[in-house]
Amino acid sequence: MSQPRIVVTRRIPEPALELLHAAGDVWLSPHDRPLTREELFEAVQGADAVVCLLHDQIDDAVLDAAGPQLKVIANVAVGYNNVDTDAIAQRGSVWFTNTPAVLTEATADIAMSLILMATRRLGEGERVIRSQTPWVWSMFYMLGTGIQGKTLGIVGLGLIGQATARRAKAFGMDVIYSGRRQADPAVERELGARYVSFDELLETADVVSLHCPLNAETHHLIDAARLKQMRSDAFLINTTRGPVVDEAALVDALRSGEIAGAGLDVFEEEPTVHPGLLDLENAVLIPHLGSATIETRTAMGVLAAENAIAVLRGETPPTPVVRVS
Ligand code: DGY
Repeated sequence: MSQPRIVVTRRIPEPALELLHAAGDVWLSPHDRPLTREELFEAVQGADAVVCLLHDQIDDAVLDAAGPQLKVIANVAVGYNNVDTDAIAQRGSVWFTNTPAVLTEATADIAMSLILMATRRLGEGERVIRSQTPWVWSMFYMLGTGIQGKTLGIVGLGLIGQATARRAKAFGMDVIYSGRRQADPAVERELGARYVSFDELLETADVVSLHCPLNAETHHLIDAARLKQMRSDAFLINTTRGPVVDEAALVDALRSGEIAGAGLDVFEEEPTVHPGLLDLENAVLIPHLGSATIETRTAMGVLAAENAIAVLRGETPPTPVVRVS
């Protein structure tokens, strides 16, 4: 019997590739970069399974290019704003899976790091040393903002939001959160987290940390008007997806002192960063490192491989988003 064709759009960790090689005939992109649209169309032709990355736009055109034998698209990411899930669901014959849970702790570590970096001016401090700018200790030199006893506002108390809240609690912060629905009472109790309206969260939090997925509702959720609602001594942290924040409006707010600072792991037009952010001392900027640990990327790759393989075997994949009934 012929082996299923498995297309992997960019290199993923070896343990994941090994699983896939044992399950079918693997085509792995030879390029260490996102495939162009044309390359993606060509690569997916005849695929039974496509293992894709967050930069691959998966839509009707890609599904058509793959052909009717396609059984599963396995995204190696928890976020799936790169995938037209309605188009997949309409086919009725293609599973779609993502990689939740395995990157929760790594991403929360980065959110907490950004909170500390932004409030304690660590990026600015590093730049002083590296540029050999003269400095001398004084009682008033480069004072930051303490976070003990301050309020963290979590927008979207999913797994990553909860893990960030847990860390913030250990640093002495109080936690409030907003979102589409109130969390389980046990989760609220554990985190000491209080459910508030989005307005109250923006108006009262010392640090606002974004953990909602990017979709039509959350695109530019933080825009000029929302930034105005925040306190002038508050910080904005974004580890979800860049387009949740209107980057141009954020530049204006940081420049004018409408808010005190920001910590960003994600950007609207990655890998491009709004030029206005680059010379702002009160913006901490890192290149989408949320899940970037060896352990986490391996776990993400393995989970995506397990999802694809389960479908190829006629089983229910571990973490489906779109099911085939
Ligand atoms: C995800 O899985 O959505 C992360 O952004 C990848 O780093």
